[in-house]
Amino acid sequence: MLITISVPQAVDDNGLISHFEPAASDASSQLIEEASTPITLIPTGAFLLPAFCDLHLHAPQFLYQGNGLDLPLMQWLDKYTLQSEARLDANPTLARRVYTQLASQLIENGTGTVLLFGTIKVETNLILAECMLSAGIRAFIGKLSMDIDISSPDSRKLTYVERNASTALEAVTLFLEGCGSLVNQLPPTRRLIEPVLTPRFVPTCTNELLAGLGNLSEKRNLKIQSHLAESKEQAERVRSEREMDDINVFEKANLLTSRTIQAHCTFLQKPNFQHLTQKGTSIAHCPLSNSYFSEEPFPLREALDCEVQIGLGTDIAGGYSLDIMSAMRQAVMVSRMREGVRSMDASRSSDTKVSIDWVESLYLATRGGSRALGLEGIFKIGAPFDAQEVAIYDTYTNRGIGALNYFDLESRLEDERIVLDREMVEKWWCLGDGRNRRHVWIQGHPVKDT
Ligand code: GUN
Ligand code: FE
Repeated sequence: MLITISVPQAVDDNGLISHFEPAASDASSQLIEEASTPITLIPTGAFLLPAFCDLHLHAPQFLYQGNGLDLPLMQWLDKYTLQSEARLDANPTLARRVYTQLASQLIENGTGTVLLFGTIKVETNLILAECMLSAGIRAFIGKLSMDIDISSPDSRKLTYVERNASTALEAVTLFLEGCGSLVNQLPPTRRLIEPVLTPRFVPTCTNELLAGLGNLSEKRNLKIQSHLAESKEQAERVRSEREMDDINVFEKANLLTSRTIQAHCTFLQKPNFQHLTQKGTSIAHCPLSNSYFSEEPFPLREALDCEVQIGLGTDIAGGYSLDIMSAMRQAVMVSRMREGVRSMDASRSSDTKVSIDWVESLYLATRGGSRALGLEGIFKIGAPFDAQEVAIYDTYTNRGIGALNYFDLESRLEDERIVLDREMVEKWWCLGDGRNRRHVWIQGHPVKDT
């Protein structure tokens, strides 16, 4: 739906949408007439879209974004990941630099809500929380919990691990208190950060730690995030060490809940998806990272058909792009390749397509992610105004903006005004970039203006 509304007159002092109607309706005309401050209308050639939601991102790995993607998952974690996390834990100045830049670039990319993995150390995660809070991003922040050292004997000089389950659980409690102190002086609608329990993945967590986190989540109604069924080696390792799949390990620890978001789930199948749906557990689909670390593509269509709640994640730095628009395009591309394989398979048992289209990917990048996080619906009265203004056509020069070209717009002229349609927006989905993003608002606050 393409709409024109006035901002901020349609948003109340708490950043919640108070008016949502076509600009031409009687009520809108009255609002515009009676406004005491100048009206800001979305200009012709532009449209409003919910801000994007990144459902899986490792904040400390932003340090080496775009490097070190030459190894399989477990070796990559050993050689690059744990080192980068340890570096930030040892250097608060560096952590603040990395996290400040991360916050600013998320906004540039139109991401208004993000679910973050942090590091082990409480203080470093509080720096992350402060940086997100001062940038005005809606951020769910996970202090890593891990009490098993997975580093190889070669890199054992670095032990990146918590001492045992009870110290790990004490550290989480301190982190929860720290987050509370950061927000408790703020009005409720400015409390944009929330702590999330974050067992890294099954190989780094004892059953005792997992059970402790499961109890804590239930007692204090806390969200949970982790990695599930991501790569073959990881899945086999869990099976040989625990004599069950990681989905069952999480389940036993009471960590598959309606407050849980699991990244990847590449190796899950239909019965597993049905199980996640029954539990209300959501999935963060990260197609770029899957291409590097998962031997198979994620069965997205099958998971959607089982009604699992799904959003998109960049998985920085297993993925190198912070841009959810890239994740949308990759999700469609991967699904198209899967559909090609399915359609060529003479023995195929199902005639159902497994591809998704661009509109579905746009849903995953916005409402899919926000639903997974239990957030209010988007663009309805009472919901927080988390939005971006996307400009695709310049009515002064009569040209597309940035990379967009439109050659046959006569049919779209109404009273000499251009009326945007689905095809014009589709071009933006394929070709658009930062040049098309004019404003971003989070909880009604402008966080990016051009
Ligand atoms: N599994 C455990 N830790 C990680 C991580 O940091 N990134 C990814 N992609 N997978 C993981
Ligand atoms: Fe990850």
